[in-house]
This record gives sequence, C-alpha cells and structure tokens, in this order.
Amino acid sequence: MATTLITGGTVVSATGRSAADVLLDGETIAAVLAPGSTLLGHDLEASVDTVIDATGKYVIPGGIDAHTHMQLPFGGTSASDTFETGTRAAAWGGTTTIVDFAVQRAGERVQDGLAHWHELAAGNCAIDYGFHQIVGGVDADSLAALPGLIDEGISSFKMFMAYPGVFYADDAQILRAMQVAADTGLLTMMHAENGPVIDVLAEQLIEKGKTSPYFHGVARAWQMEEEATHRAIMLSNLTGAPLYVVHVSAKQAVEQLAWARDNGQNVFGETCPQYLYLSLEDQLGASSEEWGDFEGAKWVCSTPLRSKHEGHQHHMWQALRTNDIQMVSTDHCPFCMKDQKTLGQGDFRAIPNGIGSVEHRMDLMYQGVVTGQITLERWVELTSTTPARMFGMYGKKGVIAPGADADIVVYDPAGHTSIGVGKTHHMNMDHSAWEGYEIDGHVDTVISRGKVVVDEGAYIGAKGDGRFVKRGLSQYLV
Ligand code: URP
Ligand code: ZN
Ligand code: ZN
Ligand code: ZN
Repeated sequence: MATTLITGGTVVSATGRSAADVLLDGETIAAVLAPGSTLLGHDLEASVDTVIDATGKYVIPGGIDAHTHMQLPFGGTSASDTFETGTRAAAWGGTTTIVDFAVQRAGERVQDGLAHWHELAAGNCAIDYGFHQIVGGVDADSLAALPGLIDEGISSFKMFMAYPGVFYADDAQILRAMQVAADTGLLTMMHAENGPVIDVLAEQLIEKGKTSPYFHGVARAWQMEEEATHRAIMLSNLTGAPLYVVHVSAKQAVEQLAWARDNGQNVFGETCPQYLYLSLEDQLGASSEEWGDFEGAKWVCSTPLRSKHEGHQHHMWQALRTNDIQMVSTDHCPFCMKDQKTLGQGDFRAIPNGIGSVEHRMDLMYQGVVTGQITLERWVELTSTTPARMFGMYGKKGVIAPGADADIVVYDPAGHTSIGVGKTHHMNMDHSAWEGYEIDGHVDTVISRGKVVVDEGAYIGAKGDGRFVKRGLSQYLV
C-alpha cells in the first residue's frame, strides 16, 4: 500500500486547529503527528512514497455534500449531471463524499427505486457516495419496506409536503411514515413547503399573466415554508421521530426550528449556499440580453430564493453561527438553460427546479470565514463533520484521525478562485448560478481514500474510484 505524508500544514477539525503532519497508509489515515516527527526512529519524509507540502495551507477532512440529485428525472427532463460528471465536479471543489437521493415514486417498490439508483451510480463515481431514499408514494408497501433500508446502509428518507401529483405526501401519510421512523431509528428528511397552497397561488399568478421566473419566488411564499416547517415539527413531536428539514430558506422557518430545539425536540436543519448569497430580486428577477426576464430561470429552485429586503440571508448566517442550522448542503440539481429550463418559457411552473453548486460549496462557505461570519472550525463542522455525524458516517468520514478514510483537502487560504463568466466550472451545465463570484481561497489538493484525485487544478482520478458508503444510524442522536 502506498504511503503519503502531508507536511507543514494546519490541520483543522470541528473543534480546533494545530500544526501537524498527516500520515496516510493506503486508503486510511495512519497517524496525525507533531510537525517533523519521526516514527520509530525513521525519518518519515524519506520513508514514504509521496510527500505533499501543505506549508501555509489548511488540511481539512474532505467535504461531504449530503444533498445532491444526479440524473434526477424532474419536470419533464433529468438533472444534467450524471453520477460521473457531477461527482468529478464535486471532487474539483473539495468534496469527497456525496449523499444522493434514490427515488421511489407512487406505485413503485422502494427496493426497485433503490436498485435503479445503484445501477446509475455504480462504477461511475469519482468520489464515495451514499443514498437517502425519497419516498414519493407513501402506502402500505413502501411503509413496510422502510425498516429494511437500514441493512442496505440507507438510514434516512425524504418526504415532500410540496409538489402535489409528483412526490407529495399528505399529513396522514407523513404521520404513518414518521411512526415507522420513530420505531426504527430512521431519520426523516422533509421538504417543508405547503404544496397545495403554492399551486393555487401559482395558478392565480399565471392567470394574471405573471409568468416569468420571478413569480416562482412570489408563489412559493415564506409563510408556506414556515407553516409546513411547523406542521412537520408537530408531527415529529407527536410521533417522536427525529426531523431533518432540508434546504431551509426562510428566516421564519429557522425560527420554527430554533423554537422546536429549545423545546428539546430532535429537530435539525440544513441550508444551501444559494440561500446565503442569492435573492428573489437580484437573481429570480434578473434579465439579460440573451434571455430577457427569463434569465431568472437559472435560479429557479424550491424552496425559492427569498427577498433581500426581509433579512433572510442575514438570519441564515446567524443561524449557522448559533447552531439553529446545523449543516450546509447544496441540493445540487442542475438543469441547462437550453432545452431544459426553457421548458418553462411562458409559464414559470414548468421550469425544472434546481441549481447546480456541488463544485462550489466548500469555496462559497469558506467566504463566510473570510468575511468573519463563521470560524474556520465551524466551516469544517458545517461542511464535513456534522454531515458525517448526522448521516451515520462519522469516524470513517468527517474527521482527520487514525483509522478514518484518507479523504483530505489541502486548502490554500492565500489562493484565489474565479467562477468566471462562461464555462469555467466542471459541472455539466451551460451556465452557472455563481458566474462572476470571486473566491478568496483555493482547493489545491483533493485526496479520496488515499488517492490524489485533484492536484493543483488538474483532475487525475478515474471514473469508478468512488465506492458506495453503507451508512449507519445518525450519530447526532442519542
Ligand atoms: O429545486 C429543487 N430543490 N430541486 C430538487 C428537488 C428538491 O426538492 O430537493
Ligand atoms: Zn426538496
Ligand atoms: Zn433536493
Ligand atoms: Zn492553489
């Protein structure tokens, strides 16, 4: 097995930072050592196969993006990143594990939906990957299949209070699924928006000729995110099932989560970079020479971007500091403008929902360190350590310690990353939601289970390097 020594860097964890050298033995971290240590009298630099000089740089556990949708069929088309292109882009950006969503639809067996997702991903991924299970049709069969997911390494499942006619579950269905979750230890993930109300508001807007992407954000009112979040919290309270609310965007929804946590409930939330930086007015309301007011389609996602005049972004950064929100994922669900987003020209309801960010999450969140909104340690916690603990991977993932998988990023705080205009990214998209963003920081080296897959901007990994991660039950819960 090849040995590697990462020397001279500052090793950062969720709880601290220290000057240390990291010794890798094959796919595993063998030791974290005081700088310049010898091992049983051996000069380590001379004994290992490879030395990586991390002087002046941060050495962090590889990013874990616990919410992606590679190849998701949605809105009459499919997300444009395959497991191959999407995981490669993730690696470029310092993410070494994703947790994607296997899909079960109404009338389909959960086992078949999961088997299909394994077929899509197996042998194609650049980095390690796990699955949550989407339950898009809650019925006696799917409920009976849920406990069996745990043996398959799938310890969490997602339901939708939004998207009637697609993935929607009503309160009675959610109640029954949460009862199973409470009995088994499965973690319930929730898309918390009141879908039936939003559909009426959207229809009324279209009838008034308000068809552009901006009105996607108007229809998906924050009140209906707050309301659904509260309803999910109360169903969680009633059943005793822990609750994890995905892609939280409204400050009022954060307040609901904080209230539930203060009451002692096991309720957690994630947000995404788009809700920290982008807005209803500047993005959904954008227009361009090429697309007119359809430009905003690039940022149509659900939950939607919120108004910059209502304090959502500020509140979200605050929640990241105070732990009212525990982690940051991307909800990576890319669609090209050409032939995909354009399905909704003339009717925002038909624009496929999703933004692509899997490549930029580590950089975008590092900007929170640069601007003083979060500490360096909190950056690691939000993007790697908590995702590992929340979803049952900690110990192998999310930490630099002996015995852990050698998933490591060397991050250069003095480096710079430009997300340029045009295709400077590696995601399979014809535009970027992040065009023009300038990042103070740079992903220099990415190591996935001991193998260098990205070296100073060059991808040197291979399709199939990534393996399926069998996850255990959440380690965030007692
Ligand atoms: O807009 C989004 N979020 N698309 C992906 C599906 C979902 O609801 O997570
Ligand atoms: Zn969702
Ligand atoms: Zn999603
Ligand atoms: Zn660099």
